[in-house]
Formats: sequence, structure tokens, C-alpha cells
Amino acid sequence: MSDDERGREHPTVILCAGGPMLLRGDHVIEDADGVRHRTTRPVSAVCRCGKSSMQPWCDGTHKLIPDKSRP
Ligand code: FES
Repeated sequence: MSDDERGREHPTVILCAGGPMLLRGDHVIEDADGVRHRTTRPVSAVCRCGKSSMQPWCDGTHKLIPDKSRP
């Protein structure tokens, strides 16, 4: 099995300090209302701070939050 094939079975998840969770590969994200969102990009950023105006995706708002309050 190639690294590419392995990547599809086990998508990469990266937690950014004070910021979003980056997902590489195909994922389905369920938001707080139970609505499911399929990733459409090679890399998607999921909000972890709860302040994004385009939930469940990160819109960069976490950069405006004081460091102590970031995820
Ligand atoms: S993590 Fe970026 S807006 Fe929430």
C-alpha cells in the first residue's frame, strides 16, 4: 500500500496551537447542530475557538482572541 493510499484510509489531522484543526484528506464534520459537512479542499481548517462566523470552518477570527482564551 502506498503512502497516498494509506493517507486516504487514515486522513491526517493536525492541531494548530491557538488555532484550527487542519484536516488533510476526505472528512465529514458534524457541527453543533448535527449538520454534516464534507470537506471539499485538500486541506480544511476546522474552528476550535468557537468564534468563526462560518462554522464549522476557521475564518481566522482566532487571531483576534487573547492568547489565554485560544484553544
Ligand atoms: S480556530 Fe480559527 S476562527 Fe476559530
